[in-house]
Amino acid sequence: MDASAPQESRFTMALMSLDTVSMRFGAFQALSDLSFAILEGEILGVAGPNGAGKSTLMNVCTGGLAASGGRVIFEEQDITKTGRHRRCGLGIAQTFQIPTLLSSLTVGENLLAGHLFGAEASGRAPAIDLDTAIRTVDLGAALNRPASEADLLTRKRIMLGAALATGPKILFMDEPLGGLNADEIDILLDTVRRVRDGLGVTVVMVEHKTRALAEIADRILIINFGRFVMLDRPEVVLNDDHVVEIYLGRKHDA
Ligand SMILES: Nc1ncnc2c1ncn2[C@@H]1O[C@H](COP(=O)(O)OP(=O)(O)OP(=O)(O)O)[C@@H](O)[C@H]1O
Ligand SMILES: [Mg+2]
Repeated sequence: MDASAPQESRFTMALMSLDTVSMRFGAFQALSDLSFAILEGEILGVAGPNGAGKSTLMNVCTGGLAASGGRVIFEEQDITKTGRHRRCGLGIAQTFQIPTLLSSLTVGENLLAGHLFGAEASGRAPAIDLDTAIRTVDLGAALNRPASEADLLTRKRIMLGAALATGPKILFMDEPLGGLNADEIDILLDTVRRVRDGLGVTVVMVEHKTRALAEIADRILIINFGRFVMLDRPEVVLNDDHVVEIYLGRKHDA
């Protein structure tokens, strides 16, 4: 790959695509007619105001929710009605805003649980071996510690490590930087870079911290009121008048 090539030519193949996806909760339309592709190997940032539908979009991609309309395609297969467990087996993983850990277990056992879950869901050994997952999130020295005693950054690493241990091709992260200080944000962003550059995992990161997102993302998708606003390179998106207006007066860049 030519590092000097323009960014838009680096990623070309769609790994997952959404075709006019909508999501209703009763009468409330949380997502409307969303169509876009997630390109293999990219880090795609997703931003938008509170309540824009970012977490809903993520869940429609990972199987936490089944879209009310439209289609979700992964590796040319229609997975719109496929449940979360089977999507995990296909190579789709997710981390949450609030770290979900097995707190009665050790750090290492949490990652092992991810490995076993991935093996069970796919019916074979996960594509990322356990040692690689441990190394990627830098938890080799903490494996025997109780997960319940971990600080916030470590809890996030454990959740990320467990998600990687399932062996994903694509990883969705919902506001991974929340609650971290500037140094911790740098550490986590480096880890996410390792996930993409070292393991080849495509990453979709929902994040309010747009400065950090601009630093790491190849492209940024903006949604508002459940609708597509823009998808382009960070410098284009974050300098767009309409996007700036959407965010105006909102505390989005802390
Ligand atoms: N299970 C649900 N039932 C009813 N309404 C829901 C449900 N989940 C989300 N919503 C609504 O859908 C809209 C989008 O919510 P969502 O959580 O996807 O937004 P978000 O962009 O992730 O917001 P935030 O930045 O606060 O995390 C909100 O108005 C929310 O109240
Ligand atoms: Mg959310």
